[in-house]
Amino acid sequence: MTAAIDPLTMRRAMGRFATGVAVVTTSVDGTPHGMTVNSLTSVSLDPPLLLVCLTIGARSTDAVVRAGRFAVSILSARQEQLALRFARRGEDHFAGLEVTHGRHEVPVIPGAFAHLECDVERDFTAGDHVVVIGRVRGVCEREGEPLGFLRGKFSDIVDRGHEPIHWIF
Ligand SMILES: Cc1cc2nc3c(=O)[nH]c(=O)nc-3n(C[C@H](O)[C@H](O)[C@H](O)COP(=O)(O)O)c2cc1C
Repeated sequence: MTAAIDPLTMRRAMGRFATGVAVVTTSVDGTPHGMTVNSLTSVSLDPPLLLVCLTIGARSTDAVVRAGRFAVSILSARQEQLALRFARRGEDHFAGLEVTHGRHEVPVIPGAFAHLECDVERDFTAGDHVVVIGRVRGVCEREGEPLGFLRGKFSDIVDRGHEPIHWIF
């Protein structure tokens, strides 16, 4: 029989899967909401769908579901402090922060490596998270380097300088 996998073991094992870091933002009745995520995954190219997994009960989770739209700002290497700011529970994540606004007044993080603006296509509960599938309506990309996350720590993602491998898939 397989031993039960406790949350710490799950976090540690999945922490070996290196990711980028993003901030999911939305706005409800003029109030901005946002949280740091690394659960961002591409789901479909045509139609363009992505997903994020948001903790049940987090303020931003309810806000995203209520608003029916959200933006994903993929953070650049220099935005570690923003990643920390948007991960602090119970704080006003936007206090003193200049944001720009995308479609439908959803705030986006200035200087991010990329923005993807989405409508909520579907949301469903899975364990202790809500899986939110977004249909991408707008994209903005910038030059620079992304912020990485590996084994519970922020990290750099190194470009090895090879040709892109788009031809494989
Ligand atoms: C690098 C990093 C990645 C995170 N990824 C997620 C995630 O994918 N989903 C999630 O629900 N929380 C994630 N968190 C935790 C949330 O950012 C944190 O709980 C946040 O404060 C909750 O937002 P709230 O203030 O709206 O409740 C992550 C935190 C960090 C630092």
